[in-house]
Amino acid sequence: MRNKVTKAIFPVAGMGTRFLPATKSVPKEIMTLVDRPLVQYAIDEAREAGIKEFIFVTSRGKGALEDYFDHAPALEEELRRKGKTELLEVLQNTNMESGAIAYIRQHRALGLGHAVWCARRLIGDEPFAVMLPDDVIAADKPCLQQMVEAYEETGGNMVAAMEVAPEKSSSYGMLDIREDMGHMVDVKGMVEKPDADKSPSNLAVIGRYILAPTVLQNLNKLKSGSGGEIQLTDAIAAELDQNRKVYGYRFEGQRFDCGSKSGFLQATVSFGLGRPDLEADLRAYLHDIMQVDKAAQ
Ligand code: G1P
Repeated sequence: MRNKVTKAIFPVAGMGTRFLPATKSVPKEIMTLVDRPLVQYAIDEAREAGIKEFIFVTSRGKGALEDYFDHAPALEEELRRKGKTELLEVLQNTNMESGAIAYIRQHRALGLGHAVWCARRLIGDEPFAVMLPDDVIAADKPCLQQMVEAYEETGGNMVAAMEVAPEKSSSYGMLDIREDMGHMVDVKGMVEKPDADKSPSNLAVIGRYILAPTVLQNLNKLKSGSGGEIQLTDAIAAELDQNRKVYGYRFEGQRFDCGSKSGFLQATVSFGLGRPDLEADLRAYLHDIMQVDKAAQ
């Protein structure tokens, strides 16, 4: 029987400089889409996919992130006393089982591959997921769950994949495809952030991975790659040299790049429109400003 995927690594050590000055004191992962921190979306997605152990790779200044996952008995008591049962439920849904979360410090910013490698002792010899909370994916069936189901059939390594415009290839890990099977592609190579004219395809890696533990051994040996950083992409590509499989999975859902301001704003609008309590007001507002815009043209 194939090992179940029960552990996930959340690399959250980045400084979030694109969101300065906010990120001077607030970790980027705590910034909110409507009223939920980015990281809550990733946690919920992981829980639905069957993840039981949540490993955060953090850095200096991320204390608020750790506090966020603490239970808040005084706040819960207050809501109970005031009969605010709906809010109480919202709050309690964020509670994590004791011991389910671990925090590991990445002492130096040496790249995504290095951040994942920092969690190696907590992973051991099992397959594991990696989730980048910047990539928020709205989907009927959560993206990681789609991948876990596909992985149960294939094993190997699996990365979420999405077509991007050719000029965007220098922002992503890009896949070299051996065989395209529709939802799934059989990968024969991976390149981190190639220029458009060097990209092997238009299929980009999005921040959801299911990886074999051998990827951690590959990370042991890696030297710095693209941008002078130790790249996860290179450690996954090394699996191919060792005759292990890598699949790209074209997920169903809409992905927002919440590592960029524009993506963050789009996600805010989209999630706002998805909320019954906000939809009517927000839609009316958007309609109005579009009218003004049209009139001005
Ligand atoms: C990381 C990965 C890259 C991947 C991207 C997805 O890059 O290194 O391969 O395509 O996430 O969001 P980053 O955006 O952290 O520079």
